[in-house]
Amino acid sequence: MARHLITSALPYINGIKHLGNMVGSMLPADVYSRYLRQRGHDVLYICATDEHGTPAELAAKAAGLPVDEFCAQQHVAQKAIYDGFELSFDYFGRSSSEQNREITQEFARELKANGFIEERSIRQVYSVADGRFLPDRYIEGTCPHCGYDKARGDQCENCTRLLDPTDLINPRSAISGSTELEVRETTHLFLLQSKLAGEVEAWIDEHGKDWPTLASSIARKWLTEGLNDRAITRDLDWGVPVPADVWPELAAEGKVFYVWFDAPIEYIGATKEWSDEDPANRDWKSWWYQADDVRYTEFMAKDNVPFHTVMFPATIIGTRAPWKKVDFVKAFNWLNYYGGKFSTSQQHGIFTNAALELLPADYWRYFLMANAPESDDTSFSWEIFSSTVNKDLADTLGNFVNRVLTFSTKRFGESVPAGSPAGEAEQRLGEEIAGLLAEYQDHLDTLQFRKAAQALRALWSAGNSYLETKAPWMEIKTDEAGAALTLRTAMNLIHLYGTVSAPFIPATSATMRAVFAPGVTEEPGWVTAEQAAALDFVAAGTPFTVPPVLFAKITDEDLAAWRERFGAQ
Ligand code: MF3
Ligand code: ZN
Repeated sequence: MARHLITSALPYINGIKHLGNMVGSMLPADVYSRYLRQRGHDVLYICATDEHGTPAELAAKAAGLPVDEFCAQQHVAQKAIYDGFELSFDYFGRSSSEQNREITQEFARELKANGFIEERSIRQVYSVADGRFLPDRYIEGTCPHCGYDKARGDQCENCTRLLDPTDLINPRSAISGSTELEVRETTHLFLLQSKLAGEVEAWIDEHGKDWPTLASSIARKWLTEGLNDRAITRDLDWGVPVPADVWPELAAEGKVFYVWFDAPIEYIGATKEWSDEDPANRDWKSWWYQADDVRYTEFMAKDNVPFHTVMFPATIIGTRAPWKKVDFVKAFNWLNYYGGKFSTSQQHGIFTNAALELLPADYWRYFLMANAPESDDTSFSWEIFSSTVNKDLADTLGNFVNRVLTFSTKRFGESVPAGSPAGEAEQRLGEEIAGLLAEYQDHLDTLQFRKAAQALRALWSAGNSYLETKAPWMEIKTDEAGAALTLRTAMNLIHLYGTVSAPFIPATSATMRAVFAPGVTEEPGWVTAEQAAALDFVAAGTPFTVPPVLFAKITDEDLAAWRERFGAQ
């Protein structure tokens, strides 16, 4: 059986992420990891904070903290939220780690030795007042095409034209507003991607055909537009330093690698952090180096696809070493907030910390995955959110569980009633459940999360239909043994739900499992088609407890208050 390596795009350190970030990378990776673990696979799910670059420096400055302290604090803050969402990382590292520095420098040495890195001197805008070179997007001015006065040096947001900083009229620093800008000469390392383009293309031809269209089409588009040589260093204080043994002058000048060079390498770096932290963790290298038995799946939003399908593979290919490259790229479109984009800089939408203050993680996990922007951008609205929660979670699942257990307790006491042996209705139900379970697995195996959530909901619905048809509250008046059979069968469904729902709603699933096994905390396994069809997980006589309401309904007052608080329009 293959080992599964899973990574989700590294959340950037500069602030708390919103729900759009969550649904486009970490959450689906977690659902998939949990599913594979439950099915008995050896899984390693790695993530980390992406900590280098100008945005981190500026966020630290805004917070009035040294950048290393800022990153350390933000890492802890983000990790706490991900724990709150029950993301089951095997390790959540930091791209500023020593491990990542070593591996990143080693990659650069190998690329240089193989002739894929070269020094080039370029002319760049320097801000005298800020005492630093300005990346293109930190130069602001008037657009020469449309006259918009806040155009950035890389692009005009108003007319979307691509720009060069020198195109701008009245350029100024976006950091300080200073107009005291000069063009200075500076030397940087360039990754000679043009030399690697052919090999990258051949690799995509071979492997990209299995990827979802969203990923492969973006990869192809980038290749078609041509793979240019790219500067992989910056004049910044914060980053992985250029190794002094290879480039003594550049190291002395304080050059660091560009954040997009060291960030994906941190997938490997974090695996080493994981291994270094606990000697019981299998040698990190076996997951990444000559790892032919490993299947590697990456999760990311669509803007990250070029880096993961073209640039990072080019980097790896250029090392000429057998580092693992991605096998399957699961990419997501945008989740919008009332039509507009979720935006960190404009504080538009719902942030992950605020979400957890309102409701437990399972509400969000289920909703987000059931509405994941897989084939298209999707839009969040409080109305859809509350109707999904109320219908699927509170009614279809939660109410079923409570109704069955409460009614049975009242009529048959606190253990699973015996009653008649299974009859035709139970046989049919078993077949239906086994069929739906097969569908559910199929969608999870192929990483189609919306369809998987639909199949899960269908499993819950099948229980409701069975219960409505058998109507044990009527049945009991004429056939007590029959009513007992109905309730016993429904309890077996609850047990099944407690197992198969766990990838989506882990906490509630644990509650459902605990109904029949209080205090049991071990991770659930999976169920076979035969087990699903037989529906005899819990025997008559097994004691059970009635859990508190699994999902509270969202009221009209909640809805109004949240719309107001989060600016819903
Ligand atoms: N921090 C980047 C973002 O938020 C993603 C980096 S993914 C990486 O878009 F692994 F490649 F680093
Ligand atoms: Zn413009």
